[in-house]
Amino acid sequence: MSAHIIVVGNEKGGSGKTTTAIHVAVYFSMMGYRVHALDLDHRQASFGQFLIHRRRVIAQKAIDLPTPDFRQLRPSADADGYMRAFEEEERAHELMSRISDAYDVIVIDTPGFDGGLSRLAHSYANTLITPLNDSFIDIGVLARIRQEDMSVIGPSHYGAMVLKQTGARGRLRLTEDFEWLVMRNRISTLFTQNKRQVTTALNAAARHFGFKVVAGFSERVIYRDLYMQGLSVMDLPLLNTPRGLSPSERNAIDEVTRLFTEISL
Ligand SMILES: Nc1ncnc2c1ncn2[C@@H]1O[C@H](COP(=O)(O)OP(=O)(O)OP(=O)(O)O)[C@@H](O)[C@H]1O
Ligand SMILES: [Mg+2]
Repeated sequence: MSAHIIVVGNEKGGSGKTTTAIHVAVYFSMMGYRVHALDLDHRQASFGQFLIHRRRVIAQKAIDLPTPDFRQLRPSADADGYMRAFEEEERAHELMSRISDAYDVIVIDTPGFDGGLSRLAHSYANTLITPLNDSFIDIGVLARIRQEDMSVIGPSHYGAMVLKQTGARGRLRLTEDFEWLVMRNRISTLFTQNKRQVTTALNAAARHFGFKVVAGFSERVIYRDLYMQGLSVMDLPLLNTPRGLSPSERNAIDEVTRLFTEISL
């Protein structure tokens, strides 16, 4: 596989996977890389929907915005569990082999629940980005935490799945290099007891799993507002709006840029 594969995953619904996938795909497109987006969340399909909005805005405003190519990868409908897994593995491998030489970066958005295709995607990752809200409910998906001293008892369901899929790569996958970034999403400026405890627990989990904790996106209305317009915050300077950029928009561009320079292609 020659493309660098970035998977955005977390078995926690609503943690910011699609928002992150959108921003990372647009960011690398703007940097001049050939980017292919893959949506494994066939039920919500919100990554693909974003790109439909984006193409509409490009046509309406007649502006040139860098845009990744896109495919949806659907799960097998075979009723037999063994056949379903086999077919999905073949299907995913066939698609990845076909697109990986034609693109520099493949960005895969995954659903917030366990499934064969999502597990497969994790096994292909060169970079896994896991967005996480500052809460023990979110950390609980990764690891079981001892309440007395915030140390790690062991992996919980998502953490164990990542270790399995990336540590023992399956029969068809060849890539060796792998990095795991856990990003704190919807960060608030308030300093609370909960925030301090989450930091301690997350650092303990980082040592346990070997992931890197990175600062992600602050809580900003703009991340929600731009979705329907098919825009990422990186596009704002290209729109040349007469009012210019607000301080919050500038800060958003800075935090997105800071996050993705962490990814070594
Ligand atoms: N930093 C942020 N600031 C404000 N709103 C945000 C931020 N990140 C995500 N959101 C909003 O939170 C909601 C959930 O985000 P998103 O859809 O990206 O999560 P998800 O992990 O993909 O969810 P799902 O598991 O359902 O696929 C969306 O309405 C999104 O616009
Ligand atoms: Mg999503």
